[in-house]
Amino acid sequence: MKTQQHWEQVYATKSQNEVSWTQQVPEQSLSIIDGINVPQNSPIIDIGGGDSLLVDFLLDEGYTDLTVLDISAVAIDRAKNRLGLRADQVNWIVSDILDFEPDRDYAIWHDRATFHFLTESWQIKQYLKIVKKSIKKGHLIVGAFSENGPERCSGLPVQRYDVSSLSNIFENGFTVNTHFTADHTTPFNTIQNFLFIDFIKTN
Ligand SMILES: C[S@@+](CC[C@H](N)C(=O)[O-])C[C@H]1O[C@@H](n2cnc3c(N)ncnc32)[C@H](O)[C@@H]1O
Repeated sequence: MKTQQHWEQVYATKSQNEVSWTQQVPEQSLSIIDGINVPQNSPIIDIGGGDSLLVDFLLDEGYTDLTVLDISAVAIDRAKNRLGLRADQVNWIVSDILDFEPDRDYAIWHDRATFHFLTESWQIKQYLKIVKKSIKKGHLIVGAFSENGPERCSGLPVQRYDVSSLSNIFENGFTVNTHFTADHTTPFNTIQNFLFIDFIKTN
């Protein structure tokens, strides 16, 4: 099955409580973004945002230039419906990240649990090319399963990372600002260990 079909089917058949990645409060992402302390009109993009509540919290905090990109149109529709009129304050992009052609710069690029589905080296290279084009001066936040995390998610294999393997991928262009691991408790009370790295663009 093609990547897009897979995700459309997931979002068409499963509720938020039936998928492992759901967070009622995206604490780790919010703590990193708040710590960066960019002006509230800075462009922020959530890659593979799905119907994550991150965008709701960022709107609540007063950020005014938010973009959510996801391969699944169903996921984006779910997020839009949830936000109601507030959805008009967000830029929505339905695209495979590997086909994304950014036409502007972002101050913060956030990716929780999407990058780790790229398991082939050409995919990682393509992601790196796009992310470098999208951030001139800014932050790249990646949250991926750690070396203690699961080997699969949503029925798909994932690449797990430690600080060194994840920072090596982005070393040409980004340096590590902060990193930490955190346990995510899924809606079914299992634990998934994530590694978060906040990178700063250097060249
Ligand atoms: C595990 S979910 C994480 C969702 C959200 N980031 C969160 O933390 O709640 C992975 C998300 O990435 C999206 N996705 C998977 N592969 C993608 C790709 N190649 N391009 C864009 N989005 C993708 C899926 O549709 C899904 O919404």
